[in-house]
Amino acid sequence: MEPESKAPHVLIFPLPAQGHVNSMLNLAQLLSLAGLNITFLNTDDNHNRLVLHTNILHRFACFPGFQFKTIPDGLPVDHPRAGDHFMELFESLKLVTKPIFREMLCSGQLNSATGQSVTCIIADGILSFPIDVGNEIGIPVIHFRTISACSFWVYFCIQEMIEAGELPIRGNEDMDCLIRSVPGMETFFRIRDLPSFCRVSNLADPNLQYVSNMTRQSPRAHALILNTFEDLEGPALSHIRTKCPKTYTIGPLHEILKSKLESKTTLLQSRSPNSLFEVDKSCMVWLNAQPLKSVIYVSFGSITVMTKEELMEFWYGLVNSKKRFLWAIRPDLVTQKDVEGQIPLELVEGTKDRGYMVGWVPQEEVLAHEAVGGFLTHSGWNSTLESIVAGVPMICWPYFADQQTNSRFVSEVWKLGMDMKDVCDRIMIEKMVNHLMEETRETFMKSVTEKARLAKQSVSEDGSSYHNLDHLIKDIRLMSMTTTK
Ligand code: UDX
Repeated sequence: MEPESKAPHVLIFPLPAQGHVNSMLNLAQLLSLAGLNITFLNTDDNHNRLVLHTNILHRFACFPGFQFKTIPDGLPVDHPRAGDHFMELFESLKLVTKPIFREMLCSGQLNSATGQSVTCIIADGILSFPIDVGNEIGIPVIHFRTISACSFWVYFCIQEMIEAGELPIRGNEDMDCLIRSVPGMETFFRIRDLPSFCRVSNLADPNLQYVSNMTRQSPRAHALILNTFEDLEGPALSHIRTKCPKTYTIGPLHEILKSKLESKTTLLQSRSPNSLFEVDKSCMVWLNAQPLKSVIYVSFGSITVMTKEELMEFWYGLVNSKKRFLWAIRPDLVTQKDVEGQIPLELVEGTKDRGYMVGWVPQEEVLAHEAVGGFLTHSGWNSTLESIVAGVPMICWPYFADQQTNSRFVSEVWKLGMDMKDVCDRIMIEKMVNHLMEETRETFMKSVTEKARLAKQSVSEDGSSYHNLDHLIKDIRLMSMTTTK
């Protein structure tokens, strides 16, 4: 291990959302294992939730040269930070957090415990201000975009779609018409599969402008990191590399971290969820009592919200399928608060016989459990990767952002499940659950098993992600030599 004062000091700054914090904390652990000094900069709200619901401080205490720092996100303490209000976070980060971020860097508040200044910033690719600040004060910035390569490439091509007249969506189009302006996706990518931010009739829509502009900032960064692997997204990656030549694919991150920690038995206890919600492990006992591959696991991630009516459609569809189900229902999933109303008897009975409902589960463990045979998901990228690694086929019901694109690739390109986009009715849900768990199970299992094998191979010692991570670490060391003051 090189002396701490000589090791690069990397500042890691995620968007404060579960899916982003998860993967960037995994990266922070990997870089710390490689002997780099790490400062993980989280917002006060997210840091407090991590400390409340995990043993994060204890876990990282055994990582030398690792420290947590916090910064305000500028929102009121009781702000929901989810659903339709989620995008308000971005404006607040730009107006409130950006000047504080600059001040913390310039004043030395983010220096390591041994006083070493930051030599490299790895910032969430959905935030562009770290590049501005890094360039101002001479610290190289690497973008880490926590979405899939295919979604990144679609976001990058929004400008081309506008110039080709394919955007804005005027509302009278056939949503199944093909989009022709995203190179590599001309034969299967429909209007319906565009990220939800594209479903606006006004090109000046702030969310559409934001995601398009932020994505086109990535070529300004020293490099781009993506949590994916070459065998999954080669075609999209070759297009991305025409714009961001230095693109490191080091995923699935949760899997590469697991394999690295297994080789250091003392640190194995360091693998546990980085949850912002209280984890209920009782579901594991329930799963142990279920037959092999008999359970469909249901979760819609950390930001998705739905109406009470939509919740009832999913509930009826699951009960009427007669399949066993484990449903992680986040406390803030339903927008109306009166969801406690009278629950129909058939749902109560059906759930008692075959279902298990909790607030938040240890998802990686659940997907790895032998009783789980399918995943009804919102197609968030971390959930999609975790399902691929676990070899579990999916039913996709995307809510927003990159999820619409991910679900099209899961169903049409990778053949790992079914896309239930834009539909929410109990008959279709029942039919898809029975298809996935019974009729078409064998069809999916061939491609699911092969993709899981390729994912594991990419993080093994002769795998592409393993080598790319090494190259990234060498690159950070080299960069840091020119910025070490
Ligand atoms: C967000 C966006 O929604 C998603 O589209 C984008 O790709 C990443 O940022 P999120 O909605 O939180 O992510 O979904 P996802 O990316 O799937 O991340 C959820 C994480 O929470 C996963 O790592 C999953 O393992 C974990 N989780 C989820 C739990 O640990 N327990 C649960 O009950 C549900």
